[in-house]
Amino acid sequence: MLDKVKQQMQSKSEVLESCNLSQEQLDSHWMPYTANREFKENPRIIVSAEGNYFTDSAGRKIFDSLSGLWTTGAGHSRPEITEAVSKQISNLDYSPGFQFSHPKSFELAHRITEFMPEGMNRVLFCTSGSEAVESSLKVARAYWRKHGQSSKTRFIGRMKGYHGVNWGGISVGGIAVNKNMFGQSLEASHMPHTMIPENKFSKGMPTEGAHLISELEDMIALYDASNIAAVIVEPMAGSGGVIPPPVGYLKRLREVCTNHNILLIFDEVITAFGRVGSNTGSEEFGVTPDLMCIAKQVTNGTIPMGAMVAKQEIYETFMEAGGAEHNVELLHGSTYSAHPVACAAGLAALNILDDDQLVARSAAMAPFLEEKVHELKGTQYVSDIRNYGLAAGITLEADPQGGPALRPYQVAMKCWEKGFYVRFGGDVISLGLPFTVEKVEIDNVVNAIGESIRELA
Ligand SMILES: Cc1ncc(COP(=O)(O)O)c(C=O)c1O
Repeated sequence: MLDKVKQQMQSKSEVLESCNLSQEQLDSHWMPYTANREFKENPRIIVSAEGNYFTDSAGRKIFDSLSGLWTTGAGHSRPEITEAVSKQISNLDYSPGFQFSHPKSFELAHRITEFMPEGMNRVLFCTSGSEAVESSLKVARAYWRKHGQSSKTRFIGRMKGYHGVNWGGISVGGIAVNKNMFGQSLEASHMPHTMIPENKFSKGMPTEGAHLISELEDMIALYDASNIAAVIVEPMAGSGGVIPPPVGYLKRLREVCTNHNILLIFDEVITAFGRVGSNTGSEEFGVTPDLMCIAKQVTNGTIPMGAMVAKQEIYETFMEAGGAEHNVELLHGSTYSAHPVACAAGLAALNILDDDQLVARSAAMAPFLEEKVHELKGTQYVSDIRNYGLAAGITLEADPQGGPALRPYQVAMKCWEKGFYVRFGGDVISLGLPFTVEKVEIDNVVNAIGESIRELA
């Protein structure tokens, strides 16, 4: 079966020819988070997408097992979004977001609050998850200044946390390779992660790990709460390897932050809008933060958009301390904040989530993914498996010569040959299935991963 599929794979020159690209054009693009030298020898080029599938330059149908980059839970090329975007761009292509706006910015802001936990009802738009994180860190510091507590500047993140690519995000982020290349900027400390040996092969929320919040209390004792602005975590870590929160962990985290007057930021760039089977991770795990970062699924990945969502009290603090009415209360924003085309895409995407009941569908498919992915336990090199909602992480033992990142890369390349786009990063293979996934597709992709792991030398 594999050999037959392999015959359909193209050589590099065939890829370039069918995409009408020159070597110079291939070289011109410095690709992000990509092994450029390897890719440019073996280009993997996607030319179209529909539903749960990509089409590559050879015309092969490729199953999308990460919903793009955790973006496209409603499936690709939804006509409702295409139509809304086309209509918007022909009617109002751009409108300035500073001191003026357009109707859809307010409509979408309100629509987003309908997916949020109670009281989180003020939405500040931006254009990516990274920018949503920076917005939340800046607002956290500025909030304390408005309260006359300007010494509260330090942030506490978590090991294996991912918060995007900007200076604040990499400072609070806890994936070593992403930080080391650039050095530290913000003052940030890191709580331990919860991927502890006791939790190996947990299904859903692991039972061990809530006790690790005591390390946050130690940090607060060390730095003093008067110097700490906020704690930022993903309720379920995504890029760090799909790490669901242990039972009781987030509740304790909330209590400690509240008791010490420290803001709690949930980075829900992956978990908001259905990934964990609820509207947000906050709702799913029963803990409400003070600020939340969202992006990705809000437009189903079609147009770049992110946002920071704040509790009303935080917004009111800025309004009350704003001075004269013509003063700008928060000196923050960017040219494309609440871009009308992104807002149109967002409204259409959130309507699809509701109309097709995709959040409930994500929850309904989760037990099947759990059952299926844990069947890989016992496969050679598989050292851990974790899952929650329509997300799963499979950790592979490091290759003695090639290091931890080699085997996931090899597995993903074998999967690509077999017709599956599978995300690999560090020592983990991640699944973030579309909410529109069918059981047979879950079966197929997990089988392809298992087969690929067994094919490793
Ligand atoms: C939890 C989390 N925060 C922030 C980001 C950064 O988002 P973006 O790549 O849109 O800047 C990501 C991206 O994967 C993410 O997973």
